[in-house]
Amino acid sequence: MDHDFWQRRWNKNDIGFHRDNVHVLLPRFWADLHVAEGATVFVPLCGKSHDMIWLAEQGYKVVGVELSPVAVAAFFAEQNVTPQTRPEGEFTVSSHGSYEIWCGDAFALPDKLLDQVSAVYDRASLVALPEDLQAKFAGFIAQKLPANAPIFLITLDYDPSEISGPPFNISHDRIAALFQATHAISFVHSHDAMGEHGGLRDRGLTALQESLHVLKRKA
Ligand SMILES: C[S@@+](CC[C@H](N)C(=O)[O-])C[C@H]1O[C@@H](n2cnc3c(N)ncnc32)[C@H](O)[C@@H]1O
Repeated sequence: MDHDFWQRRWNKNDIGFHRDNVHVLLPRFWADLHVAEGATVFVPLCGKSHDMIWLAEQGYKVVGVELSPVAVAAFFAEQNVTPQTRPEGEFTVSSHGSYEIWCGDAFALPDKLLDQVSAVYDRASLVALPEDLQAKFAGFIAQKLPANAPIFLITLDYDPSEISGPPFNISHDRIAALFQATHAISFVHSHDAMGEHGGLRDRGLTALQESLHVLKRKA
């Protein structure tokens, strides 16, 4: 799953993963994290997700990272705003109001940015990564983010013999394998998500569970 794969998807507008509404689990469970208003929420692999708008509306500063400049431009254009842009090393940073989106490879983000993060919102980020990058992502989360920043992790689980990713199936056991050495893992919720993923049904999938876990770094 190289960078070109995602750049091509955005360039062709092949973005079946994008939702035009806020994810149902975000307003339902976010408050349980008790993240203070005004804090910075990090949204890895953010695309042009409307969940960032909901987070900003709750009074958070939203820092996203996204490979595709097409996605970043679309996020701001769809809100009818023109962001300010600046170069930061290999990134282009677009900012407006509560939003700051870093365009580039998430794994190359500078420590000084991640030090400010109070919580992480992950929908369709871990599941976008193949197995080797999932492990790299878990290491990145454990090493680069402040110990007191909880992670709101939404994943998909299905029988991988039916389709190949992305999205990749992330079972509860996989979450444990990736994070249990560093994080306490709380299972919060799971539901049948087949109805919202017609594209995956068309690819041959017959059953799909979407789950929410909250991860907190162990002392
Ligand atoms: C499945 S999409 C999910 C987007 C968004 N989280 C959402 O819910 O709509 C995964 C996104 O991750 C981006 N991406 C993939 N690898 C990345 C990386 N290494 N650094 C930054 N973004 C990346 C892709 O361009 C794509 O927009």
